[in-house]
Amino acid sequence: MALGRIPRRLAVLISGRGSNLQAILGSIRTGRLDATVALVISSRPEAPGLLRAREAAVDAVCLQPRDYADRDAFERAMVERLLAADVGLLCLAGFMRLVGQPLLRAFPNRIVNIHPSLLPAFPGLEAQRQALEHGVRVTGATVHLVDADLDAGPIVLQAAVPVLDDDTVETLSARILVEEHKLYPRAIQMLLDGGWTIEGRRFVRRA
Ligand code: GRF
Repeated sequence: MALGRIPRRLAVLISGRGSNLQAILGSIRTGRLDATVALVISSRPEAPGLLRAREAAVDAVCLQPRDYADRDAFERAMVERLLAADVGLLCLAGFMRLVGQPLLRAFPNRIVNIHPSLLPAFPGLEAQRQALEHGVRVTGATVHLVDADLDAGPIVLQAAVPVLDDDTVETLSARILVEEHKLYPRAIQMLLDGGWTIEGRRFVRRA
């Protein structure tokens, strides 16, 4: 399936710290990513990422699931905001919600996520702890398109990070995060540049 042309207007969806949001904004500022962050949506009012967005003069709103009857109603409210902001690509960056049909239907193959492991290993919460406890020697970060399943859509880019003998969850997470901050803007640029198709589960670049 061809991805087609994606407008270079991003929405970044967050629930917390927002360091990937910061990395995206930084890459735009330095010209490595040719895009605009049109809107930031946080699912939590206390998310530090909201402050980062406002400091960068980016439109930022908080939409809380508990203010809506159910997930569909919550997502329909998000879709309304996203369409009004004329967004082409949704970038999940620490957004602690499973994505459902209203968003997937409104943005087919236009939702991307970053996860701190080499998927399909260690989906879900605390991926860095899972990797450490499993004893893998290499883990990393994955940028993937989002479908209805958790951390499961076609993989766009990955970066490997070795696990060191004296790693703790904190030290490993910190080294993975450094890679995330480089990987996510690169993956977004690739998606926006087009020339890609999805064949089965594979994200394939046409010659
Ligand atoms: C990152 O580790 C990301 O991979 C995961 O959640 C974390 C978000 O961090 N999905 P931040 O809010 O971008 O700092």
